Amino acid sequence: MRITIVGCGDVGTALARHWRRQAAGERQQPMTLTLTTTREERREALEALGARVLVLRADDRDALAEALAEAEVAVFCLAPGGDRAVDAAAYAATYRDSFRTLVDLMPDRPRLRQIVYTGSCAVYGDAGGDWVDETTAPDPRDDHGRLLLDSETLLQGCRTAERTVCLLRLGAIHGPGRQVLHRFRRLAGTTRPGDGASHCSWIHRDDVVGAIATAVEQRWDGIVNVVDDAPLTVADLLQRVCEANGWEPVQWDPEQPREQPPADRRIRNGRLKALGYRLRHPQVQLPLLRRLDATLFDTVAEQARQSPRLRRNHNLHAEADPVQRFLNVLQPGTYVRPHRHQRGRPGAGFECFVVLQGAVGLLLLDAQGEVIHQERLEAGGPVQGIDLADGQIHTLVALEPDTVMFEIKEGPYRPASDKDFLTAFPAEGTAAAASLEAAWRERFAEA
Ligand SMILES: NC(=O)c1ccc[n+]([C@@H]2O[C@H](COP(=O)([O-])OP(=O)(O)OC[C@H]3O[C@@H](n4cnc5c(N)ncnc54)[C@H](OP(=O)(O)O)[C@@H]3O)[C@@H](O)[C@H]2O)c1
Repeated sequence: MRITIVGCGDVGTALARHWRRQAAGERQQPMTLTLTTTREERREALEALGARVLVLRADDRDALAEALAEAEVAVFCLAPGGDRAVDAAAYAATYRDSFRTLVDLMPDRPRLRQIVYTGSCAVYGDAGGDWVDETTAPDPRDDHGRLLLDSETLLQGCRTAERTVCLLRLGAIHGPGRQVLHRFRRLAGTTRPGDGASHCSWIHRDDVVGAIATAVEQRWDGIVNVVDDAPLTVADLLQRVCEANGWEPVQWDPEQPREQPPADRRIRNGRLKALGYRLRHPQVQLPLLRRLDATLFDTVAEQARQSPRLRRNHNLHAEADPVQRFLNVLQPGTYVRPHRHQRGRPGAGFECFVVLQGAVGLLLLDAQGEVIHQERLEAGGPVQGIDLADGQIHTLVALEPDTVMFEIKEGPYRPASDKDFLTAFPAEGTAAAASLEAAWRERFAEA
């Protein structure tokens, strides 16, 4: 079968890769793929996936005619800017102008027996939170949505007795490289206007590819919503994303003015299922992980700078957890009163830490408070971490601004018994503590 994929961005490329893999497994009749991009620099990567690569804009009549010259199936996965927000004029140039050109070419393309287009659920507009399906009259509420609907109308006009036209209305795409997580990182800890109660439908990139491939294999015709099973409210999604990552939650303020509330609709995927497609990702799965990354380091380092103690813990564990795991972020000048950790069982008072950023000076002391050993621990340096035995008295100083340590101790955390301080040393916040800290830091300047 000869297939042309117009617009090999994220979805188009994944689709080409899928068909290539299938062909390698000889699970179907051989396919000859023509792939398009608008950028010369993407040619090489696409040449590994298709028989022919053309650099074109689909509103260029001659170029589109060449791309579709032998095609039996044309899949349109074009989009003006990926996840980037673009204006309605860019939508018009990408979608409407391309499909006007396609309509113009149709009389000369009798071989073309199917057109598949990845459109958007945006054409439904706002349904006040109600469910909508393919029989619901589209009612786009902005220029972007109207242009997408115009584009669908142009494509519908390409249908003949011999040619099917399948319009896949997609939810918001998530998946590799476009994780839900990344999109919302910047919203953590902010206050948003409204109540977050509007619904949004999502679809995994692999299911977009799966639906297109099945649409071609089974010659689907007409409109099919390609969304997962579980529309989420924006507030619910953000809460789950923030919880899964240990980020500050998003607050909602219904009093805050906003230009236009988001469209609220729940999209049904009954037709997709009735056609026999089984979703690989029936709902958005949030990876249960927390990233120890530069963004987190910067946030906690700023909190440490603002703290009178000049340090700040960021716990990864809950208070009752059997293992304490946390970041300890320190600024030079922070005073850690010498202490040891002792637990009921021998060996359980260990403390293990690794310096992830910056450097610390670690001092080990005897019971009389004399320094018996000092060690410089530095991210990327010859010694980056240490495992301290049960009962070893110690203190440390920050040798560089924004120093980040990752620590592990036995839990659960009990404030009254976690540390056994050497009371001969000054308490935190005193002038004596400040001069002692400066003297300890000085030892590492000399070394
Ligand atoms: N993002 C979403 O959440 C979402 C939601 C609903 C529907 N969709 C639809 O899903 C489809 C696939 O999206 P995607 O994420 O794969 O988009 P993408 O990564 O941005 O890829 C878009 C592709 O279209 C090409 N293109 C741009 N303008 C063109 C033009 N005038 N003529 C021909 N090709 C053009 C791009 O060329 P280059 O290779 O040069 O970049 C790129 O190959 C699109 O049809 C989009 O409308 C996306």
